Amino acid sequence: GTTLGTSAAEKGRYFGAAIAAGKLSDSQYVNILNTEFNSVTAENEMKWDATEPQQNVFNYTNADRIVNHARSRGMSVRGHALLWHAQQPGWAQNMSGSALRNAAINHVTKVATYYRGKIHSWDVVNEAFADGGSGGRRDSNLQRTGNDWIEAAFRAARAADPGAKLCYNDYNTDGINAKSTGIYNMVRDFKSRGVPIDCVGFQSHLGTTLSSDYQANLQRFADLGVDVQITELDVMKGSNQANIFAQVTRACLAVSRCTGITVWGIRDSDSWRGSDDALLWDRSGNKKQAYHSTLEAL
Ligand code: XIL
Repeated sequence: GTTLGTSAAEKGRYFGAAIAAGKLSDSQYVNILNTEFNSVTAENEMKWDATEPQQNVFNYTNADRIVNHARSRGMSVRGHALLWHAQQPGWAQNMSGSALRNAAINHVTKVATYYRGKIHSWDVVNEAFADGGSGGRRDSNLQRTGNDWIEAAFRAARAADPGAKLCYNDYNTDGINAKSTGIYNMVRDFKSRGVPIDCVGFQSHLGTTLSSDYQANLQRFADLGVDVQITELDVMKGSNQANIFAQVTRACLAVSRCTGITVWGIRDSDSWRGSDDALLWDRSGNKKQAYHSTLEAL
């Protein structure tokens, strides 16, 4: 194919971008989006603070701009993210215990119900594991409601939208390490007990090298019987950037259950990583070497 999306589709995959509703009036941005991508993720607009600014009062205005733009053009949508320790509304940040648990499950149910039938994959829970060597859960207000909060969220999401793939999503999981193994053990446990989980997202916010076992790590999760997805790919600028984008692309294609790749923005100027210049288009909207190496790898 001649674009990221069409080339990925020829391999039975999607190629997506995180986008911002506020940039849908930028014609250069929208032209690249519509030409190159067949999946989108809302960069911020589906997060808890955006969709439920007051308890049980929902606002889907900006999320709908993204969903409608995508679906009217045949692009699929990754829902990001139902529950996360960050970007919570103030009212939830100040809650705890069963009140927070009930509010969190209500959030999952209401948002997943609103978007039922429109979401390819939901990040039901984002970033719930700790960095470092513990392999355990990250401390958060949600974690303090009880270790079963993740499975409760997945069960609620399944009940609300039985057609969406339900994913667990995290970062610093780019090889076989204590954190990825902690997640692996959770997924294995969920599969053995019938907790509904369909996919694991590997954010892949990468530096100047890629773990040699990146592909092997994807494969061990796939072997548990879940799909894997590259969900937030961006790579530090430098002499390895184009090569790392290509390595990640080849790793996904080499794992039959790796169903798609999403880059976390379009132009370097759109990236949350600022001066890392971590994306596939430069600040003027020109394709970078990283773009060409990615397309070549597809
Ligand atoms: C980032 C967005 O890109 C920023 O615009 C926002 O200010 C903070 O969040 N992991 C995630 C994403 O799961 O939601 C984060 O997105 C980047 C890290």
